[in-house]
Amino acid sequence: MKSSRREFIRQSTSAAVLAGTGLLSERRILANHLIPAAGYPLTFPPIFQGGSLEAKSALKEIWPGFPASVLALNGTVPGPTIRLKRGERFKARVQNSLNEPLVLHWHGILGPARMDGNPRDAVAAGMSYELDFAIDQRAGTYWYHAHTDRLTAKQVYSGLAGFFIVDDPMEDSLGLPRGEFDVPLLLQDRRSNAAHTLDYSPGMDDMILGFLGDTTTVNGVPSASLSVQRALYRFRLLNGSNARVFRIGLGEGAKFKLIANDAGLLPAPIEVTSLFLAPGNRADILVNFTDFAHGSTVELKSLAFSGDMTMGSTQGETRTIMKFVGQHVGSVGPAPTALLPFTPHDPFEAKRTRQFMITMPDGGHGGHMAGMTADLINGLLYQMDRTDFTVPFGDLEIWEFHNMAEHMHPMHPHGVLFQVLSRSSAPTLPPEDSGWKDTVLVRPGEIVRTLVKFDAHEGPFVLHCHNLEHEDAGMMLNFDVTAAPTVEGPRLSVRRQVSEFIVTAPHDATAYRLEATEHLGHDALWVPVTVTPTHEIEGLAFRFPLDGSAQFFRLAKI
Ligand code: C2O
Ligand code: CU
Ligand code: CU
Repeated sequence: MKSSRREFIRQSTSAAVLAGTGLLSERRILANHLIPAAGYPLTFPPIFQGGSLEAKSALKEIWPGFPASVLALNGTVPGPTIRLKRGERFKARVQNSLNEPLVLHWHGILGPARMDGNPRDAVAAGMSYELDFAIDQRAGTYWYHAHTDRLTAKQVYSGLAGFFIVDDPMEDSLGLPRGEFDVPLLLQDRRSNAAHTLDYSPGMDDMILGFLGDTTTVNGVPSASLSVQRALYRFRLLNGSNARVFRIGLGEGAKFKLIANDAGLLPAPIEVTSLFLAPGNRADILVNFTDFAHGSTVELKSLAFSGDMTMGSTQGETRTIMKFVGQHVGSVGPAPTALLPFTPHDPFEAKRTRQFMITMPDGGHGGHMAGMTADLINGLLYQMDRTDFTVPFGDLEIWEFHNMAEHMHPMHPHGVLFQVLSRSSAPTLPPEDSGWKDTVLVRPGEIVRTLVKFDAHEGPFVLHCHNLEHEDAGMMLNFDVTAAPTVEGPRLSVRRQVSEFIVTAPHDATAYRLEATEHLGHDALWVPVTVTPTHEIEGLAFRFPLDGSAQFFRLAKI
C-alpha cells in the first residue's frame, strides 16, 4: 500500500491523528523507553493558505504519548510551509498570542527592511502586524523563524520555524522531481529528557557552545522514517537547529547530488558523499533510489568531523538523522545535468573590504568571565538601538569574516544573498560554498571572504551568528543600507585598487597610526604602514601602494 506525501500533508501531528494511524500501540512501547525500530512516519507541515500566522503556546506530542508544551504557529510545529511563486505577494498577519514579545523573520527572503523581522520590530503579547511585499528572487528553499531580541533561541527551539519555498517557471521547466518526490526536511537538533518534552533550559556552557542535543527531529518528528519509491527524490534540507552543525551523509558513503544551496539552484548538480550544513543553511539534494531494494533502509546521517576547539562540545559527533525505507514501486526519470546558471560577482569590482573580527570576549581562553557572553563581532556586543556601520546601496563589497575564537560561527547578514569568494582553510571552495548563500560557516582560525552587494532594499538590517545562543548573547550587529553618501562608522574600510590600497578611517583617526599584518592569529605581526594621507569625501583616507604582504589593517593609538 502506498502512503503518499499528500496524505501526510492532510494529516497533522496532533494526538488525535496519531491515535488514528495506529501509533497507539507504539505509545506503550515508548512508555518503556523504546522507540519502534521502524521509527515514526515522517509528517509534513500544512501549506499556509494566507490570512493569519498566529503564534500561540500549545500542547503537542513530539514523542508520541508524551504531551509537550510548544510554541505553535496556526496550531502546528513546525509552522505551516509558505509556498509562493516568484512575482506573487506575500501577505500575512502575524498575530502574537504568546505571553512575550515576538517578531518573525523571513530568512533568505529579500523583503523590505521594516518587514524583515528585525528584533527592533517585535510586537508585544497580544499585538499583531501586517506583512505585504512582492517576492522577487530566485526560486529556492528559504525559511522563517522567530527573531525576538534575546528570545530567538527559545522561541525557535519551542517550534516557531517553518519553510518558505519560492518556485518559478524556470525551475519548473528543468524536470526536477516534483509533488511527492519534492520533500522538505527540517532538521532540528533536540536534547532528549525523561519527560520527552522540548524543554529549553540552557546552562552556562550552553550559552557559550550553543544548546546542543543528542537526537534530531525532522519536520518535528523524532526517529523519523519515510517510505520511498524506486525514484529520484529532491530533498530540501534545512538546518533549523539552534547550534548543531551537520555533516550530511547517506548510508555507508553513498553518493548524492547537491543541486542548490541557500538561495536556489547551482549551475549544475555536484556529486558529493558529504556536505556541511550549518544552522540556517539549506541544501537541496537529489537522491536516486532506483536500485533500492524493497524493505531495505538507508540512513540520513550527520558524519563525524572535528568541530569546536572547546572541551565538552559534542559538535562533530555522528548522528542518525532519519531513515528512508524502500518500496518496490516507482520508476526513475533522468536527473537533469544542467540547472540554472547565474552571473558570479567579479571580485575586481569590489569597492571596499569590510572586516569582521570574531574574538573571544575579555577573559580570554576558556575564561568567559563575562558570564553569558558569547564571542564578539568587532569587539561589539549587540545593542538594539545602535547602528554599527553603514553600507552603500548597490556597491559590491568584500566581507571578510575572521574567526579568531574557538567556536564555529555560521554568519548571516539579512537583506542580501551573497557568494563565497575564498576560505583560508581550503585551496578550492567546497560544494556547499557554491552558488548563492545567505549563511556561511566560519570555523575556528578560518578567514572566509564573501562578495556582498545590497541591491534589493535599503534600511536597517542585522548581521549575526546563526548559532542562536550566540545571537541571543549579543553576537549581532546593526547596519544601515543606504543610498545616501555616508561617513564610515568606527571600522576601517579597505579598498583594494589595481595598484594601491585605500584605507578609509573615521574622522578621529589622527590620534592613531595605521598598522598592517599579513595574517591574523595569536602570532600576528603588526607593522606600521607608511602612507600618504589624502582627504576623501568619506573621511580620512590612507592611500599607499599594494606591497603584497599587507592583508589586514588596524588603527593603533599613537
Ligand atoms: Cu535565520 Cu537573522 O536569521
Ligand atoms: Cu535571516
Ligand atoms: Cu556563533
